[in-house]
Amino acid sequence: MILLLGTRNAGKIRELKELLADVHGLELLSVSDVPFSEVEEDGETFRDNALLKARAISAQTGLSVLADDAGLEVAALGGQPGVRSARYSGEPVNYARNNTFLLERMKGITDRRARFVIVIALRLADGREYVRDGALTGRITEVPVGFGGFGYDPLFIPDGYSRTLAEMPMEEKNRISHRRQAIEKVKGVLTEIVSQDP
Ligand code: IMP
Repeated sequence: MILLLGTRNAGKIRELKELLADVHGLELLSVSDVPFSEVEEDGETFRDNALLKARAISAQTGLSVLADDAGLEVAALGGQPGVRSARYSGEPVNYARNNTFLLERMKGITDRRARFVIVIALRLADGREYVRDGALTGRITEVPVGFGGFGYDPLFIPDGYSRTLAEMPMEEKNRISHRRQAIEKVKGVLTEIVSQDP
């Protein structure tokens, strides 16, 4: 089965390739193999945006597509930046500026609880659709720490840990991440599809 990863984000592509590497009979393609144009994410929820991306890229390419929409929800900010995580500090997307902006907004706030949320949409070439989700709870640091991962990783310490996601090797982040949890659910679906239609 051929599956196109419906994201232009290099950090996500790296993580998704590693997470899906052990699904037998699955050939993973990304935007460097099959170019597609950017999809505007104007949905109100992670689910809307994930489906929007998977449907649009599948329509553009005629392929089965896996797309995700993810973001950071900070409790003390009423769930912001949420679906606006990528462009929190404006256009174009800039991780360092987003991190500075978030830390500014959290100055003096002692409740640092936050969570990463993700929805993954799988849209098959024949029109079948599957949606799965995942979440990772933790807390926001006072300053960025670490150089790994992407996005808000230098600001996020998962519950039960004392290091940020950006301080962990990718394999360690991928053992616990929101993306991992949702991908595990998607893998169940993919394994079934591949076994029915090898
Ligand atoms: P999306 O491309 O619309 O899903 O935007 C996701 C945004 O949320 C990214 O630009 C990051 O800022 C943030 N994000 C999502 N997943 C992660 C993660 O695993 N680590 C850090 N930031 C993430």
